[in-house]
Amino acid sequence: MTDSPTGTRLTSTDVAPERQLASLADDVSAGLLAPPRWLSPKYFYDDHGSALFEAICATPEYYPSRSEAGLLAAHGREIIEAAAPEHMLELGSGSSRKTRHLLDACDALNRPCRYWPFDVSAQMMLDAGAQLVADYDWLSVHALIGDYTGGLANVPLPDQGRRLIVFLGGTLGNFEPADALAMLEQIAALMRDDDRLLLGVDRVKDTATLEAAYDDAEGVTADFNRNVLRVLNRELDGDFPVQDYSHRAVFDRDMARIEMRLAADHAHRVTLAALDTTIDIEAGEEIVTEFSHKFTPDTLAALLETAGLTIDRHFEAEGGAYSLVLAGKANP
Ligand code: AVJ
Repeated sequence: MTDSPTGTRLTSTDVAPERQLASLADDVSAGLLAPPRWLSPKYFYDDHGSALFEAICATPEYYPSRSEAGLLAAHGREIIEAAAPEHMLELGSGSSRKTRHLLDACDALNRPCRYWPFDVSAQMMLDAGAQLVADYDWLSVHALIGDYTGGLANVPLPDQGRRLIVFLGGTLGNFEPADALAMLEQIAALMRDDDRLLLGVDRVKDTATLEAAYDDAEGVTADFNRNVLRVLNRELDGDFPVQDYSHRAVFDRDMARIEMRLAADHAHRVTLAALDTTIDIEAGEEIVTEFSHKFTPDTLAALLETAGLTIDRHFEAEGGAYSLVLAGKANP
């Protein structure tokens, strides 16, 4: 573990995964070489993909991040009062933009806490962290650089002090159900009786609203989806004809999830030179690039309960469009 002071109130630490994580080459070999073809959504987020995701959040159709920001702004004080955190650990913190609502609440309530953002993108965290310590004179930021899907056991949180674990953006919905449960169990394992989890998830709703959120009129989401092929071309010396793939976003009500796919416009052969492999793709063949699971109050409560967590407070956006829950450890 390296500890590099980048200012008196901003430090960063590498967090080693508990278990070996699959590489891009492993994931491509497992998912892409034979149908049904799939890719992990984590490969969307190179610098360009991260910028495209920010642009998605600004489209009129993509309501989840606005809904969540509205809930954090409206209920931030209540959340901070209830959780009374001394440490705030955020999984997948990105630019920490929405977290500012919670820091504003700490500020207003005169409850200083230490912020531990955890993300793969060190640069984004350090840039955001520098701005945060400049804006909040009581705040110290301990950036944790790593992939939180590799586990939380190596997170260097001090033993003392109440924790609020923050997991926003509906990211839990990207996991397959068993993996979502495993992720929540790892969070629960980190928590003591007084600690709380703040979790944001998207809700099941009418198909038109959901599908539009993942297929905006401007085509930003389509570009974001196709970007994963650009990542493969660059990282694996590939030749996917990126513009010859069509974006699809379909809500599967039985599975309660949006499925994003890329459909080949025509038959072609792809070479991935770094893997010494070619792939023959038929016209119309699809690659699944992302699941985004949606919840009902009941499915969310049941999932948390199975993970050993219980909901203290449930904040809902208008019409039940989005949920923010504060949860604690269930009584043993
Ligand atoms: C950031 C994973 C929550 O699933 O809604 C947005 C990603 N994909 N539009 C989501 C995403 C397409 C987003 N998450």
